[in-house]
Amino acid sequence: MIKEAGTSKFQIELRRHLRAQNISDNLVHLMCEIAEASKYVINAVRTGDLGVAGTSNLYGEEQLALDVLSDRILRKRLIHSGVVCNIASEEMDTIYECQADADGLYSVAYDPLDGSSLVDVNLAVGTIVSIYSGCDLLQPGRNQVAAMYILYGPRVSLVYTVGDGVHEFTMNNLMEFTLTRENVRMQPDGEIYAPGGLRKKYHPGDEKFIQYLEGKGCKLRYSGGFVPDINQVLMKGKGLFMYPALNGSPNGKLRVLFELNPMAFIIEHAGGSATDGKQNILDIVPESLDQRAPVYIGCSSDVKKAMEFVNGGA
Ligand code: AHG
Ligand code: MN
Ligand code: MN
Ligand code: MN
Repeated sequence: MIKEAGTSKFQIELRRHLRAQNISDNLVHLMCEIAEASKYVINAVRTGDLGVAGTSNLYGEEQLALDVLSDRILRKRLIHSGVVCNIASEEMDTIYECQADADGLYSVAYDPLDGSSLVDVNLAVGTIVSIYSGCDLLQPGRNQVAAMYILYGPRVSLVYTVGDGVHEFTMNNLMEFTLTRENVRMQPDGEIYAPGGLRKKYHPGDEKFIQYLEGKGCKLRYSGGFVPDINQVLMKGKGLFMYPALNGSPNGKLRVLFELNPMAFIIEHAGGSATDGKQNILDIVPESLDQRAPVYIGCSSDVKKAMEFVNGGA
């Protein structure tokens, strides 16, 4: 039975903001459930076991206990929401099928705890969520109906778009999200850059691009956490994040379904752009859950410049 959206008493201000965006009650309900689940993820991150789970994921990454716990918290919430068809998670090897019929249902791809290896040194981490209508998760990112991330930093913020502007909520002392920024917009030109991956494995075009950025006075700002690094680029409005193809890793590191598509959807709806060096991230047609791609994401003119350098045109 699909829980009548709006009946739950959680996240009233977020629910109101979502409802004003002409999206379905089921999607409002789903996004509020995810916001509610983040309270339990925060608690796990703040007090949970920092050790390893003794297992590894589809990417060969050693899973931390926090990866597995955060994944379980989100998956349970999605299953019980009553509005989810299929689930894909960075920490699950296959798609989890909740319900067969697609009518009015959504499918969710998420990274339950991005940057989990930074928790033990107390750096900011986050949860990244991508939502499609129906049951198909291998769609181009352009088809998302919503994307959101929750950033567990000095403050806990939730940033989302349903295609009509990018909005930020911040968690208050009652653990409710209250509106703090509406219609966040990026500038065309950046002043910071976040270069992921080992520089000694960079291709010449990427090295030249970094010299170009340094030459125009951009400052390096890199934490190793995709969520805080993207949030900084978005909220300052003047920056670019990159995780390029490296010698030995032609597709870079970041995953299309759980990391690149949701962040590209948010950055594009804030006036920025995102490319894999050849095409817009949101136009990639994923062939598998674990597909990776190189990424340059942020201010549109910097992203355009990146493409010129990467393709030898600059
Ligand atoms: P996750 O913790 O979900 O596996 O993701 C980690 C990712 C991302 O947060 C970050 O941008 C990237 O790893 C950093 O990679 P490097 O440590 O190679 O720079
Ligand atoms: Mn991981
Ligand atoms: Mn991640
Ligand atoms: Mn992760």
